[in-house]
Amino acid sequence: MKTITAIAIIGLIGLASVSCSPERAALVEGKPGVQLWGENCMRCHNTPSPADFNDTEWSTVEMHMRVRANLTAKESEKIFEFLRSAN
Ligand code: HEC
Repeated sequence: MKTITAIAIIGLIGLASVSCSPERAALVEGKPGVQLWGENCMRCHNTPSPADFNDTEWSTVEMHMRVRANLTAKESEKIFEFLRSAN
């Protein structure tokens, strides 16, 4: 009986970790750039305003902050697309 419980628990843990990454991807898919910007860019400093930089400058900032903030390509694309569209 104990063995069956243990197997069931291991199975559940396995299921939870497998379903983790597609869920995160779906979550990011559904979020607009403006929300990702608000959630990510204030972790280390004040959120810069879209008007603070021009399109060229934002592209440079993107390369730098994508690494610093550990963003996926999709997240970074959405955030900086928003910033370039709103300046
Ligand atoms: C993990 C911490 C961290 C996160 C998250 C982060 N930054 Fe930064 N940011 C920094 C640090 C540190 C600097 C100082 C410059 C450097 O990297 O040497 C900086 C500098 C900047 C600058 C230059 C400021 C200036 O006045 O010259 C801009 C613009 C900027 N970040 C934008 C962003 C945006 C947009 C995001 C969201 C995608 C973001 N940052 C997320 C750490 C972070």
